[in-house]
Amino acid sequence: MSSLDKQFAQTFGAPPDIIAAAPGRVNLIGEHIDYSDGFVLPFAISDRTYAAVRVRDDRKVRIASMQRRNKIVEHHLDAIAPGLQGEWERYPLGTIWALGLTSGIDIMIDGHVPLGAGLSSSAALECSVATALNHLFSFGYSLEELARLTQRAENEYVGVPCGIMDQSVSLMAHAGSALLLDCRDLSTRNIAFDVASSGLELLIIDTQAHHSLTDGGYGQRRASCESVVSKLGIKSLRELTLLQLEASRDLLSKSEFIRARHAVTEMKRVMDAVTVLEAKDFLALGVLINQSHASLRDDYNVSCPELNTAVDASIAAGALGARMVGGGFGGSAIALIHAAHTQETIAAIEKAFAAESFKAPRFFTSLPSQGAEIIQRG
Ligand code: GLA
Repeated sequence: MSSLDKQFAQTFGAPPDIIAAAPGRVNLIGEHIDYSDGFVLPFAISDRTYAAVRVRDDRKVRIASMQRRNKIVEHHLDAIAPGLQGEWERYPLGTIWALGLTSGIDIMIDGHVPLGAGLSSSAALECSVATALNHLFSFGYSLEELARLTQRAENEYVGVPCGIMDQSVSLMAHAGSALLLDCRDLSTRNIAFDVASSGLELLIIDTQAHHSLTDGGYGQRRASCESVVSKLGIKSLRELTLLQLEASRDLLSKSEFIRARHAVTEMKRVMDAVTVLEAKDFLALGVLINQSHASLRDDYNVSCPELNTAVDASIAAGALGARMVGGGFGGSAIALIHAAHTQETIAAIEKAFAAESFKAPRFFTSLPSQGAEIIQRG
């Protein structure tokens, strides 16, 4: 019996009917373009969140967590609606709401995706619960539907204006590959991502700087993109070429222009990244990763001193490429490095952080891992 099984039985008096797992993610390239109908290229990390669920014969919902042993949150199913106050349990509650559950359940969560690091612990939580419920109640939702429903949970229930990337990759990723996701129709292609056989490693640097999608910066960036779309009379920035954007410069404010320039150039970089990855040209991939960071820092303005320091110190230590990942304003950066240089690179980044008196960063590595799955049926 796993410790999750045991804790579930101790807390709720009977073992779970099902346990599902869903991973966090890093994004190789394609940042801040999921909500502009772009292509993105994330992969699932090996850290996962587990959701154990048991059906009840009433309409009560009880939620507990292995990480907060002494607290059980309880609600009547009919009370679960946007506006209901709460803490982390709003993510599973939002998922229950979005999936349209009609029976009571007990849920226990065991989260292993680092929190607040920009590695999508919230998507992992939503997708683990959604996957468990989809199987347990035989809803028959497709992965695309589950991605849209869990995004809806986060947008409308939790109130975070995220795009569709994090939930999609948490649900659809395959081990060994990055996921080329078309955010317009959620179609995907697996792109082999094997840096290890070339002696490389992808270092994940959690800057430990604060990041939140509800602080306003994320929403403002989305609003700028929407404003460009409406001024130019197009459906999304996906339709725009750099030449067209430059020709329309006078119709846009300076900040709208540079925000759109990030989106248009980043969309091109994703497709270029696929080409160079298929050719195993990691030097060229590094260049694209660097360009992505410069664009996010200078045009999209979502980086921060800690992220820039992590990126600059990685490059100075010999990384092929480095960039911020996720929403920005803190969270994590990635660096594509020679595996033999991992310790030196870490030491160089630590030194650079200490010199700036930043909080010490945390380091992770991860191979591209499997998306959400059922790991146990009772
Ligand atoms: C956050 C959001 C995603 C995406 C990224 C930026 O992770 O949840 O939808 O917009 O930021 O690429």
